[in-house]
Amino acid sequence: MTDLRGKVAMVTGAGRGLGRSMAQALAEAGAAVTVAARTTTELDSFVDEVKTAGGQALACPTDITDEASVESMVEATVETFGRIDILVNNSGIVATTPLLDQPADEWDRVLATNLRGTYLATRAAGRHLVAQGAGKVINIASNFALQGVANHAAYSASKAGVIGFTRSMAMEWAKAGVQVNAIAPGYFATPLNAELREDAETLTKVVRAIPARRMGEPDELKPWLLLLAGSASDFMTGEVIVIDGGQSVR
Ligand SMILES: NC(=O)c1ccc[n+]([C@@H]2O[C@H](COP(=O)([O-])OP(=O)(O)OC[C@H]3O[C@@H](n4cnc5c(N)ncnc54)[C@H](OP(=O)(O)O)[C@@H]3O)[C@@H](O)[C@H]2O)c1
Repeated sequence: MTDLRGKVAMVTGAGRGLGRSMAQALAEAGAAVTVAARTTTELDSFVDEVKTAGGQALACPTDITDEASVESMVEATVETFGRIDILVNNSGIVATTPLLDQPADEWDRVLATNLRGTYLATRAAGRHLVAQGAGKVINIASNFALQGVANHAAYSASKAGVIGFTRSMAMEWAKAGVQVNAIAPGYFATPLNAELREDAETLTKVVRAIPARRMGEPDELKPWLLLLAGSASDFMTGEVIVIDGGQSVR
């Protein structure tokens, strides 16, 4: 079992969905956890849960696309907990739009949230990780980065960018003792795809394309996240763990 007592983690997009589940895993393993997103009520309810269970957590309202906001998230974490050991770049949005109909501001929003946000948070937290000669960056990509999916050009490009960024940063910081890896999930039942799951016909089509014939549950990411957050991955960097019920292997 991964023991993260004494470690400090930051999870972006942790108000709901996969981010919240991964933040719970880190808190359950003993880490102090900063949770960041724009919706304060969701962050506050996470902090309440952790504190009730005897853990430590900090809510940090953050817009991941905004440089100053991301810098404050890191400053607040260091001020409160004294250090940073683990960064999970999870905040993300999706757009399902045929390219010929895609307005440039939608394209920019997807890239800014999924890719620029990952860059901003990694740079801000990385200063501390590199200086202390140890740390973990875990980027949440997507299996859409690995296969062709129509009507998702912006999203797929942003997530392929996250994988390229992961590999580049792994090389840049390997000597400094900082491991940079990615998880590429397939379909997991979260608020991100609530609309899709409400439409029985679309849901059937989606599930039929997954060899495991079901979506994943957010809790199924926890063991992989803990592996990348703990010492088990000290000699592993630049890797992408795909967890998608076999969808991208077809
Ligand atoms: N669910 C899936 O099937 C699936 C599959 C592959 C990859 N992923 C990836 O996994 C990650 C989490 O997805 P999810 O399904 O958990 O999504 P979700 O339920 O929609 O949650 C997304 C989180 O990101 C935050 N976020 C969005 N824009 C933000 C911004 N500008 N600044 C800060 N936080 C922001 C949201 O909070 P606020 O809106 O309050 O800011 C929310 O907490 C995403 O990167 C997604 O692309 C998900």
